[in-house]
Order: sequence, then C-alpha cells, then structure tokens
Amino acid sequence: MKTLPHLFSNNKAWADKIRASIPGFFEQLTSQQAPRYLWIGCSDSRVPANEIVGLLPGELFVHRNVANLALHTDMNCMSVLQYAVEILGIHHVIVCGHYGCGGIKAALERKPHGLVDNWLRPIRDIRQKHLAELNRLPDEDAQRHRLCELNVIEQVVNVGNTTILQNAWDRGEEIILHGWIYDLADGLLKDLDVSVRSAPQLESLKNKLSGMDSPGNP
Ligand code: CO
Repeated sequence: MKTLPHLFSNNKAWADKIRASIPGFFEQLTSQQAPRYLWIGCSDSRVPANEIVGLLPGELFVHRNVANLALHTDMNCMSVLQYAVEILGIHHVIVCGHYGCGGIKAALERKPHGLVDNWLRPIRDIRQKHLAELNRLPDEDAQRHRLCELNVIEQVVNVGNTTILQNAWDRGEEIILHGWIYDLADGLLKDLDVSVRSAPQLESLKNKLSGMDSPGNP
C-alpha cells in the first residue's frame, strides 16, 4: 500500500524545479560529492541545515542529533567527522545550536523524559561547569539562552579535541571549526566568534572558556 502521497508529489515538484533551473544537476551529483562544509546541528525540525544557509544538495555534509552534541563516545558522529575530514576533505566544521532547544530545556528539567535523558547528560555537566556564569544571569530564560550558546562552544571544543582534528591539523590541513547559533524567532544565524583553525587556537579557546568562570570575572 502506498502511503503519504503528498510527500512524493512534493518530491517530484522539487526535483522538477531543480532540473529546470540547473540542467544536469542530479546526473552530475551521482558521480561525486565534494562538500566544503560539515554541519553538526540539532535534529529540531525547525532548523533545516541546507535551507537556512541556502546550500544545494552536494554542498553540505550533515550530522544532526538532539541538542547538536559531538561526543567522543558517539560512533555515529565520530564516523561522520572522520569521513568528512579524511575522505571528503571538508574545510569547515560548523557546530550550530539554536535558541529554544528542547534538548537543553529537557536537560535542565527535574522530570524524567526516558532514554533521551542519558543522551542529554553531558548538557547537565556543561551547566555545572558554567554554573557561576549562569547564576549571574537574571532569570531561567536567560540561563537557558546562554546554555544553548555554551553547549555549542563546548561541542566546538569536543570536535577540536578529537584525534581526527588533531591529526588533520598536524598534517597541516586547513580546517576551521565554527560555533554558530540559530534564532527560531527571526530565522537568523549568529556567529559565536569561537572559530579555531589550529591546536594552539583551540587551547586558547579552552583557556578562555575556563577563565569565564574564574572568581572575580565580571
Ligand atoms: Co534543539
């Protein structure tokens, strides 16, 4: 039994439209993909990676999970990263979070959400690490907002700490890591200004991150 016919008709219309504007587009893509960017983003349906940066199929290698985590123990994310860096030769890794992330919200709630609570555990650790900074904020909304940003920055650090990136930088490869955040309210991206392109730059980002919470820091 065929189901969801509207999605198939949407698909046909989409493919026809691309074929009309770029003749031979799909034929060309079947032979190779050469994306310059890896996107590590949230699974949230409101943050569709290709659309918000205006990139066509073939231009963005994508990994998405709840709350855009890049954990060293996650074979899925690490395999994507390794393939992107070592096989595809991408030049930019973009970790993109978003304000109003349900994963961040769930990680801060006391009530249980099931299996996903295990996945979100690292966000509780990030909150704990930055508790002094978060406690200086006026209310819970501001804290959640900031934690969305801090989570992105910590995931940029995680990506940089992998042997995949460390080895690539050792080989002299030009790979830049970026931390961005997307605002559901206006559809706009913000660069969190934590880009790093080398191991020493990563070290200074890590120092800056721990310095944020040092006593006496305004
Ligand atoms: Co989210």
